[in-house]
Amino acid sequence: MNAIETQGLSKHFGKRAAVDGLSMSIPAGSIAGFVGPNGAGKTTTLRLLLGLVRPDAGGATVLGSPLTEPGRYLPRVGALVEAPAFYPSLSGRTNLQVLARLGGHPRSRVAEVLEMVDLADRARDRVGTYSLGMKQRLGVAMALLPDPELLFLDEPANGLDPLGIIGIRELLRRLRETGKTILLSSHLLGELEQVADWLVMLHEGKALFCGPAGDLLAQRVELVVDAEDAARRELVVRIAEGAGYAVTGDERAVRIACPASFAETLDRQASEAGVTDLAIRVKEGSLEQLFLALVKGDRP
Ligand SMILES: Nc1ncnc2c1ncn2[C@@H]1O[C@H](COP(=O)(O)OP(=O)(O)OP(=O)(O)O)[C@@H](O)[C@H]1O
Ligand SMILES: [Mg+2]
Repeated sequence: MNAIETQGLSKHFGKRAAVDGLSMSIPAGSIAGFVGPNGAGKTTTLRLLLGLVRPDAGGATVLGSPLTEPGRYLPRVGALVEAPAFYPSLSGRTNLQVLARLGGHPRSRVAEVLEMVDLADRARDRVGTYSLGMKQRLGVAMALLPDPELLFLDEPANGLDPLGIIGIRELLRRLRETGKTILLSSHLLGELEQVADWLVMLHEGKALFCGPAGDLLAQRVELVVDAEDAARRELVVRIAEGAGYAVTGDERAVRIACPASFAETLDRQASEAGVTDLAIRVKEGSLEQLFLALVKGDRP
């Protein structure tokens, strides 16, 4: 079962498409990473799913109900989208109590969520004295108040130091054990790789990839071809670029961001061109390279 499905979801601001015919699915119970560079449309997609902005084309189903009836699913959704607003002169606990009263959530829930985000021992301190990481965790606590089935977290690790990032990661793993579906956005691929079991890679408002994280990571391969003479180098570059892959390298080797299976094609095409002894090595490339390769493949 899918917690979220979108079909051709689109949102323009003036002439610019922020979300452009986005079709994706997020399985229930997964930690889904929503990744893409600045301006890819991550926040706009989350705002569309939360009913904060209206699509100008396409649609979506969230927890089994259509986007056009947000009242049917929003009570089961929690969200932290962009920097949350707090009362800085009140304690973390009082901030949550105010929200619990407004939202009609049981008062006992406040202590539970403080415990979950590991803020119980600082709950009596004024929020104005919290570090960035503590504020971020308080924001997650707010999103958890309604005990949502589905949780949207927009860049929860933004601006955090490595310890803060580890703190958020551990929190996500704890939440996964409660069976919630979490859609987590980040512009840092490496950060999502650690926790996500599903990935949606977004570029210019479209999904370049949507599937199990393992499938994407398996493609994260780089072929290194020894090519000390210029003619060989040129041949390899021509074959790789002809197939739409990103090529880097220096005068000793050509590096191609592509699936490992491309090694066979490369070897065959080189043989056809008269080079039968290409030395091709398979190395694990970075996710950034993979992203660039996918972007390149997406363009004519
Ligand atoms: N309210 C708005 N008015 C006009 N343009 C907007 C508005 N909101 C978003 N956009 C534009 O839509 C595009 C997508 O923005 P969005 O905030 O969804 O990207 P993002 O993937 O969340 O980026 P980031 O990683 O920087 O948070 C951008 O070009 C942005 O300028
Ligand atoms: Mg954003």
